[in-house]
Amino acid sequence: MSHDQPLRIEIAAPSRPYPVLVGAGTLPRLGAALDDAGLGPSRFVVSSPTVWGFWGETLHEAQPEAAPIIVPDGERHKTLGGVSRIYEALVKGGADRSAVLLTFGGGVIGDMGGFAAATYMRGIRLAHVPTTLLAQVDAAIGGKAGVNLPGGKNLVGAFHQPSVVVIDPGVLSTLPRREFRAGLYEVIKYGVACDAPLFEQVSRDLGPLTRRDPATLTPVIAACCRVKGGIVAADERETGGRRVLNFGHTVGHAIEAGTKYRRLLHGESVAYGMLAACAIAKARGALAAADCRTITAAIAQLGPLPPLNDLSADAQLEFLRHDKKSHDGRLHFVLPTGIGASQIVTDVSEAELLRALRDLGLGE
Ligand SMILES: NC(=O)c1ccc[n+]([C@@H]2O[C@H](COP(=O)([O-])OP(=O)(O)OC[C@H]3O[C@@H](n4cnc5c(N)ncnc54)[C@H](O)[C@@H]3O)[C@@H](O)[C@H]2O)c1
Ligand SMILES: [Zn+2]
Repeated sequence: MSHDQPLRIEIAAPSRPYPVLVGAGTLPRLGAALDDAGLGPSRFVVSSPTVWGFWGETLHEAQPEAAPIIVPDGERHKTLGGVSRIYEALVKGGADRSAVLLTFGGGVIGDMGGFAAATYMRGIRLAHVPTTLLAQVDAAIGGKAGVNLPGGKNLVGAFHQPSVVVIDPGVLSTLPRREFRAGLYEVIKYGVACDAPLFEQVSRDLGPLTRRDPATLTPVIAACCRVKGGIVAADERETGGRRVLNFGHTVGHAIEAGTKYRRLLHGESVAYGMLAACAIAKARGALAAADCRTITAAIAQLGPLPPLNDLSADAQLEFLRHDKKSHDGRLHFVLPTGIGASQIVTDVSEAELLRALRDLGLGE
């Protein structure tokens, strides 16, 4: 494992600025990173049986004093019940207001642990050590935390920024291939929506990226953290600018809901959503046909997406009507206007949506 200096990105979140460290070998040196962030000695680590099974020993060697709290992950376990188990373990372990909670897992562990840290004793310090590509490029940055309710996803939550985020791309070596690919769609999202050089780098280095070469992954993950960090700094509570990161997510969320969150991974739904947004933008003349082809080809390069031909476009439209991100009855839609540039519009019509959904292969 390389012990080069990690890349360091400063996230200038108004409520708490913090560094993100990205690099191979940052996990074995976790203890020093937490000390440098000024975190106290009373440390707890929330993880899942899967992640702890693969990487618990490495984490334990790096942070022997951190007491493990193991809770199940996977979307259906992102509940208040999971958060309660974390609270109980904190109480049992004697955690007071000086305690530090580390999250060590994917977005589910990060969101549950983040919410527990935001609320336990009205808030304790938090550090994220994300272990999925999606969590490394997205969920660990920005301070959003929360859980699902039976009535919907992410309905309960808080904003609680971590004190430091430590990202070791080496842990991605054990991630199932499909989960890894789902994270890459989010990377493409950043590139298309706001970072043309990132898009070009991903298109060019797809081979070493899919082989999960840490040296190739490190600058790509860092670029995503930089983009998200910049947006979070300008719009911490997602009232305006942060919405560009919803590129692909409007139709993506509808497809996730329409397939009951079972058939597609989040990133795969976002890939469909990006294809739909590109098709709409192209049909409007907002996106050049050549750029549309380039983006579509990059998504296709990652392999086939699970088919949607048994879904009805009309039924999906119903989900879009209920999109919780809709404002004053209007759907906010991020449309690419080029590679690395996008605009937010509120006037996408149902006819345009239907056409895009049918283009994705959905039926009547
Ligand atoms: N807070 C935010 O800003 C934000 C942003 C995006 C997504 N999210 C949330 O993130 C969640 C999705 O996160 P996710 O995609 O990481 O899913 P996840 O946390 O469920 O992890 C996916 C799977 O990968 C396994 N896993 C994790 N790391 C591994 C590793 N290194 N090796 C082998 N297996 C590993 C997990 O056990 C799990 O089975 C959603 O709940 C979503 O709402 C939050
Ligand atoms: Zn997403």
